[in-house]
Amino acid sequence: MEILITGGAGFIGSHTCVELLNEGYEIIVVDNFSNSKPESLKRVSKLTGKLIKFYQIDLLKQDLLEKVFQDNQIEAVIHFAGLKAVGESVNFPLKYYENNITSTIILCELMQKYKVKKLVFSSSATVYGMPEKVPISEGSPLKALNPYGRTKLMIEEILQDLYFSDTEWRISILRYFNPIGAHESGEIGEDPNGIPNNLMPYITKVAVGQLEELQIYGKDYSTIDGTGVRDYIHVVDLAQGHVLALDKIKKSTGIHIFNLGTGKGYSVLEVVSAFETATGVKIPFKITQPRSGDAAICYANPLKAEKELNWIAKKTIHDMCEDSWRWQSRNPNGYTKNEELKNPCLIQSEDFLIPNN
Ligand code: UD1
Repeated sequence: MEILITGGAGFIGSHTCVELLNEGYEIIVVDNFSNSKPESLKRVSKLTGKLIKFYQIDLLKQDLLEKVFQDNQIEAVIHFAGLKAVGESVNFPLKYYENNITSTIILCELMQKYKVKKLVFSSSATVYGMPEKVPISEGSPLKALNPYGRTKLMIEEILQDLYFSDTEWRISILRYFNPIGAHESGEIGEDPNGIPNNLMPYITKVAVGQLEELQIYGKDYSTIDGTGVRDYIHVVDLAQGHVLALDKIKKSTGIHIFNLGTGKGYSVLEVVSAFETATGVKIPFKITQPRSGDAAICYANPLKAEKELNWIAKKTIHDMCEDSWRWQSRNPNGYTKNEELKNPCLIQSEDFLIPNN
């Protein structure tokens, strides 16, 4: 039996593939490379010494996706694929609703048809909007503030309706806080298109000399030093959370929602200072206007995941900075190779070209 990973070539997806392969799972990755590169999967294969069955498919293409279900023995799906840029979602809401929501509906319809009813869904702490109080528990009020956030919230609601219509479904919804860091090998990491929107990739681009200085969005929040506070979580801890969430739905029925965060908040200035300490590289910055839609403080209460999944984030902010930097400094331009893949294919480290049928 195999695990289907949608969006498996992306930042969180690729790290989760490593953890699953290391746990002995066989995986099938579906990705359209809209925000990722084949090279990440090649490196996952290199890191693990395992093969990856791969299909280059856009999830909106139902007939192509159906073939994946027909041709394989899929036991469960981990669904990462989706667009995730907040600003872009404000300008192109329909693109976001179609890409994120329609594709999830198509995926779930096929899962239902082929009786694959175990799903781990990649949600986000963005569903909490501006939190009224911290730490944020899973039962805290939900309010998305932009189309991207609404797609996550709507999908969560669709999945709940699906479960209530058919309780054979077993679903884990994972609400990520702020994933940063990279695999400690420096082989895989975050590779955003263009100028990064998020803090850590921006810092590493400044550190590597590709951007001049960090702009810190606001210094008058009611926080320790006036800059925004977030719950940064190492992507490898996050990836391990997916393996445990999968174990959970293999063992028990129901729909489960988990925060995946560390439970600790760090301000922007604290992250800059942790980065400088971990790497010895100075990050020039200037304070600018607050970014619209930014909360002052956001961090998780992760106790439910600890209790029910036996999951706990182990890596420190120092580890996160060191690993982000190892990835960025060894790969200043991210994944640069852009090989064509056969479709479908089996990916192995040295060669993409083993045809799969
Ligand atoms: C952002 C998204 C959120 C999404 C998450 C995914 C917004 C408003 N929110 O969260 O919906 O789920 O990414 O990872 O875009 N900061 C700077 N300078 C920068 C970048 C960020 O000062 O160049 C500050 C921000 O004001 C914030 C903190 O750093 O206080 C973290 O920002 P970011 O990494 O963008 O994450 P979020 O805003 O928490």
